[in-house]
Amino acid sequence: MELAGKRLLVTGGAGFVGSHLADSLVADNDVLVVDDCSNGNAEWIPDEATFVEGDLTNADVVADVVTEDVDAVFHFAASKAVNTDTPRKQFTENSEMTYNLLERMAEVGVEKFAYTSSSTVYGEAPRPTPEDYAPLEPISVYGAAKLAEESLVSTYAHSHDLQSWVFRFANIVGSRLQPGAVIPDFILKLREDPETLTILGDGRQEKSYMHISECIDAMEHVVEHADADHNVYNLGTRTTTSVNTIADIVADEMGVDPDYEYTGGDRGWTGDVPRMRLSIEKLSALGYRPSQSSDDAVRAATRELIAEL
Ligand SMILES: NC(=O)c1ccc[n+]([C@@H]2O[C@H](COP(=O)([O-])OP(=O)(O)OC[C@H]3O[C@@H](n4cnc5c(N)ncnc54)[C@H](O)[C@@H]3O)[C@@H](O)[C@H]2O)c1
Repeated sequence: MELAGKRLLVTGGAGFVGSHLADSLVADNDVLVVDDCSNGNAEWIPDEATFVEGDLTNADVVADVVTEDVDAVFHFAASKAVNTDTPRKQFTENSEMTYNLLERMAEVGVEKFAYTSSSTVYGEAPRPTPEDYAPLEPISVYGAAKLAEESLVSTYAHSHDLQSWVFRFANIVGSRLQPGAVIPDFILKLREDPETLTILGDGRQEKSYMHISECIDAMEHVVEHADADHNVYNLGTRTTTSVNTIADIVADEMGVDPDYEYTGGDRGWTGDVPRMRLSIEKLSALGYRPSQSSDDAVRAATRELIAEL
């Protein structure tokens, strides 16, 4: 689908990834953002977009924003904490939002759907993990909800006239990333105490980080070029960064030299996957190759977040 001259709905468009996508799409499209601002910031929504504040677990809100003149829905609204205190609520609300959107789209004939899934659907799979890796065995409720939602998207793609693009994200980093993610957390902790940094786990967790600018470019590339009914793509970088290296980069950029203390164990919290690297061969074969390494993405994001937090 060409991303020009379209009317596009961005759910979660006041959040980190959704607001950056809305920024990019408004140049050539008519963009409608819906968000309940539970974790977003209305100030990040570009002025050119129309904003509806509402909760997508409410089918009436979904009916208001998904109308027959919408060409495509980009669905980014979700509760995304892997270590949530309210897993049942997260599972119910995330899957309900996705179900509400798909049902309403089928009802009014909106036929294009882009959905943000996550590396967490793979659980502790061997790396680099390709899209066709099986069995998919998530180890967090967040990952289980993503897998359930992917199944709903596949169902609607195969049994209704829906074309879908599912993105399994590595860790996406950059401006507007909120505390709760490792880079903003380290920045805030080091501002409070530049002498000591407490690191969750043993610091040796190794994951792939992708900068938001490349994530947006890659998503747009896939939507414009992948033309199957149901398209599933990993988005990430070829390399990984350890939590210790993130601490080193953040300390270096802040000009401090803290001692590290560890909470211990091989992971930060229950449900955390200590190692994650996604195969991006399918993305490369479609013609998109990220230019940054994972370390580059972490350093660029650290600079942006130091300036804005
Ligand atoms: N950032 C990452 O590294 C990453 C990795 C994997 C997957 N994802 C997925 O990408 C998507 C976007 O993530 P993000 O990092 O931008 O998160 P975010 O929290 O910044 O954005 C999500 C937005 O959804 C909104 N929202 C939540 N519940 C809502 C509801 N019931 N009704 C309306 N709006 C609601 C929030 O207010 C927020 O603005 C999510 O689906 C997330 O699971 C993100």
